[in-house]
Amino acid sequence: MSESTSQQAADAFNTRIEALSPQALQEAVDLLRTGEVVAMPTETVYGLAGHAFDAAAVARIFAVKARPHFDPLIVHLADQPQHHSLQGLAAAELIVLQDLPANIQAACERLIKAFWPGPLTLVLPRHARVPDLVTGDLPTVALRMPAHAGAQALLQQSFPLAAPSANRFGRISPTTAQAVYEELRGRISLILDGGPCAIGLESTVVGLEDEQLVLLRPGLLDLDTLQQAAQSPLRPATQHPAELRAPGMLKSHYAPGKPLQVFESGQTVPLQSTAAGRPGLLCLQTPPAEVQAQLAARGGQWRALSPDGSLHLAAQALFAHLRALDSAAVDYLLAELPASDQGLGYAIRDRLHKAAAPVIQNEPFFALPE
Ligand code: TXA
Ligand code: MG
Repeated sequence: MSESTSQQAADAFNTRIEALSPQALQEAVDLLRTGEVVAMPTETVYGLAGHAFDAAAVARIFAVKARPHFDPLIVHLADQPQHHSLQGLAAAELIVLQDLPANIQAACERLIKAFWPGPLTLVLPRHARVPDLVTGDLPTVALRMPAHAGAQALLQQSFPLAAPSANRFGRISPTTAQAVYEELRGRISLILDGGPCAIGLESTVVGLEDEQLVLLRPGLLDLDTLQQAAQSPLRPATQHPAELRAPGMLKSHYAPGKPLQVFESGQTVPLQSTAAGRPGLLCLQTPPAEVQAQLAARGGQWRALSPDGSLHLAAQALFAHLRALDSAAVDYLLAELPASDQGLGYAIRDRLHKAAAPVIQNEPFFALPE
């Protein structure tokens, strides 16, 4: 499709942001029933939701995001009794249990009990009814029960919803309705506004490798917390077999438009960067006066993620500040990595490393909205 045709297609919708009123929710449900997609708030990041069992609706999600088909989606579930057990999920034709060892089943049940609804995604053997497009042809499906009241209101009135983060593929995840608007304006009709996301980083993703639980994507819930709750060992994923076709394990996710370089907390800010021009510094706390002066001398600016040093605040603010610096009058970005290699520090490092990785060649996958 040529650039001008795709531009026309991309501008086909008049995009509205609506607060979470009963009317707006009803409108969202009506759109979802007809196979349309809707942006919804969750406690992690905003999602672009479509009927998970409707292959055409799922195809719309991929088209709107310009996301390659090999990258599978998370299915979001209503907080209902049948979704709180593996048996119930099997009865709902989301997963199959035959090949799942009993000890893994028990560990997964404990994780569900501890963290659903909440920011945990479980990757389990899929039921045949889940469309191939949702799973990226993998034998597994990713499931999560979001805690956000807006997401739950929508799910309670509809059906399981496939929902990736509501950004164009490879770009920064949105944590406000306005950020979704900037990403998907003209491509969808409705954005439900549930306020800024409380967590700010995508869910922790746990899956299986050689019949052992592994961490596929770090998030708020860290390895220790998960292991304790699961009463089972859990390790970081090694070379994930799905890595090539898959996942958000692609290195250049969350990419800003400007070059980004990361540096360790406590190191000298690398202002003598190879990139020329005005620096935009994303730091954890207010930078020392001399760094502020050096930045000012270069026409640069800074943003601090967490005035009090809390990593929760830093995570909450990360994508919004990255997005703001990316559109500020600066030429390149510098981001400070949190020192901690645990928990949220680990998850923030993961996102910043991915944001700093070279941008993916976006050519042949890009299917634009019809
Ligand atoms: O917090 C979240 O999880 C947000 C909100 C909207 O719920 N969603 C989100 O979706 O981050 P997305 O599509 O941006 O990321 C989904 C992640 C990707 O890393 C994807 O590769 C992985 O989940 N994933 C999905 N299905 C998988 C599968 N069957 N096997 C391995 N990884 C899978
Ligand atoms: Mg994403």
